[in-house]
Amino acid sequence: MKMMNLIKYILFTLPLTLYAQDWGPQVEVLIPRDNIYQLDQASLIKNIDTGRRIALFYPVSVSDLLIPYGPMKTFFESDPDDPVRKLIYDLTRTVSPFKSMDEVFKWLGVHEYPSIIQEENPNPLPLLSAQEKSLPMGATLIQTKDGEALTFGCAACHASDLFGVKILGLTNRFPRANEFFRQGQSFAPYINSFIFKDLLKTTEGERLMLLKAKTSTKWVGTKKPKMIGLDTSLAQVALSLAKREKDPYATRTELSAKLPRPNKLSKLVADSKPAVWWNVKYKNRWLSDGSIISGNPVHTNFLWNEIGRGTDLKKLEEWMKTATPQIEALTTAVFATKAPRFEKFFGPDSISLESARRGQKHFVQSCQKCHGIYEKGWDLPDAKQLSNIELIQNIKITYHKKTPVINVGTDPGRYLGMYEFAADLNRLQISKNLKTIVEPQKGYVPPPLEGIWARWPYFHNNSIPNLCALLTKSADRPKTFTTGAAINKKTDFDLNCVGYPLGEKAPTAWSKNPDYLYDTKKQGLTNTGHDIGIIIKDGKEIFTDEEKKDLIEFLKTL
Ligand code: HEC
Ligand code: HEC
Repeated sequence: MKMMNLIKYILFTLPLTLYAQDWGPQVEVLIPRDNIYQLDQASLIKNIDTGRRIALFYPVSVSDLLIPYGPMKTFFESDPDDPVRKLIYDLTRTVSPFKSMDEVFKWLGVHEYPSIIQEENPNPLPLLSAQEKSLPMGATLIQTKDGEALTFGCAACHASDLFGVKILGLTNRFPRANEFFRQGQSFAPYINSFIFKDLLKTTEGERLMLLKAKTSTKWVGTKKPKMIGLDTSLAQVALSLAKREKDPYATRTELSAKLPRPNKLSKLVADSKPAVWWNVKYKNRWLSDGSIISGNPVHTNFLWNEIGRGTDLKKLEEWMKTATPQIEALTTAVFATKAPRFEKFFGPDSISLESARRGQKHFVQSCQKCHGIYEKGWDLPDAKQLSNIELIQNIKITYHKKTPVINVGTDPGRYLGMYEFAADLNRLQISKNLKTIVEPQKGYVPPPLEGIWARWPYFHNNSIPNLCALLTKSADRPKTFTTGAAINKKTDFDLNCVGYPLGEKAPTAWSKNPDYLYDTKKQGLTNTGHDIGIIIKDGKEIFTDEEKKDLIEFLKTL
């Protein structure tokens, strides 16, 4: 017995300690890496808490693209009829006049920090001071020598409001963080003018900060997403690198800013949604197309964010060296992220056990080989003694040791985009230091399906409104659909189809704003694929309506 324990110990702990901080492409994920640095329990809990705080408040202090908070607040909270304020609006052609910073934050899609501790939340938020709590999730105030600046952190894109529960690690369905910087660019030409100084009471430090921001945007290439909810980070990084020299630090010169290298991503649509964080523990390569085959994905995010903000990469390299503990805490938190559970939101009676168990059989036959094996409470030998809630839990999830990339015919734009700047990224000294390697792919990672119920709309480009549509052949899927926030469980979610309610079931308010209409006819937004060979055999759909229902019932329990 003792010997067995020893063997078990060697088998289960040794390889992990060896591999724990190895981010190379040869790493095999033998068990989920939810404790990525193999910390003891107390350090793990402490690091997760620190890491979540860093996810809320952006830690990089070397960005040049910082917006002075004081003048911005003064501007948005000034009298809307003030003639000078009106003049600024006319000059900058910014979006509809907001009345307060709260309205600006609302438009940006960042979520209010919850006022109470929420029991349904799988990833409890850190305890914040009253002042920290007053900012929405992801908004960050940085104290610089020139004054207080507003910027955005990971949570701006990677936190979401799920029926009132604020979940860190869940995709924000409607973020506009990138849009904020894009709009900011339109202010740049006016910052030295009297209106800024007089109306906004700008200090000398804040004026300098704005000048710096203005300068750094010369090396930033922005792009508007095709649809709210999708992100253009890929294009922004590519177009920004195209404005820098081709050396290992992508040096910023006047000439490179004036004469950017042509890049297909100025036209090609490669938009994608922010990924959920609870899947990374199962994977050894990153992004929807698995194109980052080596390196810590959290590092890559800092690098990408900062290239997109026009930052000097020598300064970023220095910052990364000093910030190792912060980056490791954030990495710990990201890998430890858990998925929200369906029954916590809708009650255990909302799942039919018999139907889910029938659905499991279809899943094993048609889906498991790509998406992984999900063993349930009801599969245990002592299942008879378990409660209904225990029966529907995941006991063990086994995903591929090496994350696969498969082309199932979904929209190719996103993976094709990677071919347009992989070489520019791999050339960077920072990529070499971090051992980050980008290798363009043909297809996408079949993602682990834990917490799939909470991740609608589906596919990397959000083109599938709910699971009923996903299990329908592409020719018959909805060509357009309205989208909206998950506020009311009864009206904003289709409990049977899991995802957006469609047609008459969709809240009428959703159709009022054309920005929220998803149109699969647009470039990059097509909803093809994931049907032939999966749900279609010999030209026919393989599942009856009843079988689809069972399959969806099973997916709810993951
Ligand atoms: C402007 C929005 C935005 C911000 C801010 C942002 N991300 Fe992301 N993130 C994305 C998008 C979009 C993707 C998916 C891109 C793709 O794969 O096509 C992504 C992917 C990821 C992944 C890869 C997940 C996987 O399954 O491979 C990780 C990890 C991640 N982000 C962590 C972070 C961290 C940590 C931060 C803060 C330092 C951050 N992100 C900030 C938009 C954002
Ligand atoms: C041949 C491999 C393969 C098989 C078999 C397969 N899938 Fe997929 N699946 C994928 C890939 C690849 C994606 C990612 C597509 C994309 O994002 O463009 C995907 C995406 C999904 C998504 C959306 C995930 C998300 O986060 O948006 C769901 C849900 C899904 N599959 C369910 C199923 C079900 C249910 C079955 C069985 C009926 C199945 N899949 C069979 C490869 C497969």
